[in-house]
Amino acid sequence: MKDLFIKQIRLDPLPIEKGYPWELPVVKNLAKAGGLEFHSPVTFFVGENGIGKSTLIEAIALAMGFNPEGGSKSFRFSTEDSHSQLSEHLLVTRSLKRQRDGFFLRAESFYNVASYIDELDRQPALGPPIINSYGGISLHKQSHGESFLALVENRFGGNGLYILDEPEAALSPARLMRLMVLIRDLVQKGSQFIISTHSPILMSYPDAEVYQLTETAIEPVSYRNTEHFRLTQQFVNDTERMLKYLFDDTPNE
Ligand SMILES: Nc1ncnc2c1ncn2[C@@H]1O[C@H](COP(=O)(O)OP(=O)(O)OP(=O)(O)O)[C@@H](O)[C@H]1O
Ligand SMILES: [Mg+2]
Repeated sequence: MKDLFIKQIRLDPLPIEKGYPWELPVVKNLAKAGGLEFHSPVTFFVGENGIGKSTLIEAIALAMGFNPEGGSKSFRFSTEDSHSQLSEHLLVTRSLKRQRDGFFLRAESFYNVASYIDELDRQPALGPPIINSYGGISLHKQSHGESFLALVENRFGGNGLYILDEPEAALSPARLMRLMVLIRDLVQKGSQFIISTHSPILMSYPDAEVYQLTETAIEPVSYRNTEHFRLTQQFVNDTERMLKYLFDDTPNE
């Protein structure tokens, strides 16, 4: 096994409480499975909307010392206190490998990360502006996709743990492929990525481990066997037929 920062996650016995996040299938299934092992520098969590991917990777990020809304480990800001208590029950088995960099990025709160960097740079400081590490242009003054790639290209330095929640949200297919190349470069520099995604392109990253979250299990799967890949493939291969299938039987209002 490659020397990864995170080798395994497990759950403490859970509190007997109702509601979020304790009743989510992903939490029950993780407890039932006795944990989850990481074998590849790039791990994807895939699954239907609402199955619990963000909840799980947020808990991993928090257990590793990140801010719930994202950023590097030194970021301390909060616009909304909505994170779950799951991280307090998550046991993370780490290697002895020294982590030099890290970033937790949520598509949902990227805007707040950008605001926080601008805010830090408005305060008097001795060193160079923080935005210099992010390409020099305020992330707010670039498009969503541009700012996202600027962040990865300039700020991610390698030898780091990068936890990304739906990074494809910002990116065109061409830029998404660019991101895959950047991920490869960072992996060659000793990094580990844990990513939640709906993108059939991204999840095809070579030798990645794909975990599919369902109502009944968390299971390793080939990206080709995910619903995301199959449905997209079917759609692209036979768009007219799929559209016909989707719309033809719709009764007229
Ligand atoms: N702060 C919260 N309080 C209560 N319920 C929540 C909270 N956050 C998420 N949930 C619920 O938990 C479930 C899992 O949400 P989560 O955001 O982890 O799903 P997801 O797999 O990331 O979905 P998506 O693919 O849409 O991003 C959802 O049903 C959601 O409504
Ligand atoms: Mg999510």
